[in-house]
Amino acid sequence: MTAPVYDPLDVAFLADPYPAFAWLRENEPVHHHPADGRAPGFWALSRFEHIWDAVRRPDLFSSAQGLTFFADEIGQLGIPPTMVMLDPPVQTQLRSLIGRGFTPKRVTVLEDRIRRFVRDRIAELERRWSDGEPVDLHLHFSSTIPTYVLAELFGIPLADQHRFAPWVHALTQLQNDGFALDAAGSSGGAALAAMAEMMEYFSGAIAARRSQPTDDLLGALVAASVPGPDGEAQQLSDWDILGFCFVVVAGGSDTTASLISHAVTLLGSASDQRQLLVDDPTQISGALIEFLRLESSVQGLARTTTADVTVGGTTIPAGEKVMMLYAAGNRDPREFGPTADLLDIRREITRHLSFSSGPHFCIGTHLARLQARVALEELLTRHPAITVDESAGTRHQSAFVRGWLSLPVTHL
Ligand code: HEM
Repeated sequence: MTAPVYDPLDVAFLADPYPAFAWLRENEPVHHHPADGRAPGFWALSRFEHIWDAVRRPDLFSSAQGLTFFADEIGQLGIPPTMVMLDPPVQTQLRSLIGRGFTPKRVTVLEDRIRRFVRDRIAELERRWSDGEPVDLHLHFSSTIPTYVLAELFGIPLADQHRFAPWVHALTQLQNDGFALDAAGSSGGAALAAMAEMMEYFSGAIAARRSQPTDDLLGALVAASVPGPDGEAQQLSDWDILGFCFVVVAGGSDTTASLISHAVTLLGSASDQRQLLVDDPTQISGALIEFLRLESSVQGLARTTTADVTVGGTTIPAGEKVMMLYAAGNRDPREFGPTADLLDIRREITRHLSFSSGPHFCIGTHLARLQARVALEELLTRHPAITVDESAGTRHQSAFVRGWLSLPVTHL
């Protein structure tokens, strides 16, 4: 039997990456991927422990040269390098500012609004179903929730919120192509134009808040100050704030939508586990981590070595891109035992890689979990037998994120 091949730009690999991840973990945990016409050479780590240790050492594994294995993605984007693409100590300082917008307390107050929105979306699914129109779980439900929540968080008025969805979509598309506009192909002009439009809108919103303070996230960033080089308090520049907007929209929307859709696909083939959640919705919160472990929205992101580093007996030279295959580490039997490939919503998970670890640990975890919990509580209460047709759905084709573009509902 031939070994499953890790080829992150190949559609066959992307359809089911897990056999190739398992092969790498057992046979080449520190894998060197040669350059070809599509991408430069890079390394890939697939064991839980190796990835866990690497992401916690930003002095050796830097984020400042981009998060993909493509060359110069930051330069191509033309956006301010934001904290996810910076290293400590600058990243730490920016993070402590934006972190104030995402504390559990600030996020929890959104619950009622999220629940109302989710109920409206379920009503829309029901209307479509009874009118005989196509019903798509991802398109009509999962993907709408983070878009609404981010617009609310930023303080975008209701009348402008319809403009937000195409921007989120464009950013997702750029992200799926690894921000490699030429290398992987499909992003192109429309996505860049949408992104420019978003930046222009946010620039206007920032300017408005400079003269009239608000208590939304944008207002908080405008009001925030950081110590400058001479120790004097300095305000964040428009450019810094735009960088935040970019990373929050790029990192917070599709990831959360995919978690909601994956929960439904995973439960579709585990009726006993679905019943557990229907009988006791308080278990949904814990189950979310298990869904993310098995189907990690962020499959992997890169770092760049700052010195020669030895991992598991193999030395990676300085200046090399190294993919942290979070999704492979999340199924490592060394960490999760012999049932690592199976769904077990009652599994006790002490650590996982779905939100990374170390200085870049996801800042939006509370917000993502809140949205997914409310979405699933409402959906499973009203439609405990909802069924989707994965074979008729379409997935992203990306080495970096995993999720759906479309997921038709066959039973509501
Ligand atoms: C299920 C949903 C989500 C998943 C799976 C996820 C995953 C991740 C991962 C893996 C990272 C680390 C990136 C790296 O390794 O370089 C990250 C960072 C980040 N995430 Fe999330 N994320 C989710 C939702 C959100 C949400 C809802 C927001 C905000 C609204 C958000 C904002 C961020 C930000 C700002 C960072 C950068 C943190 C830093 O560099 O210090 N994420 N996320």
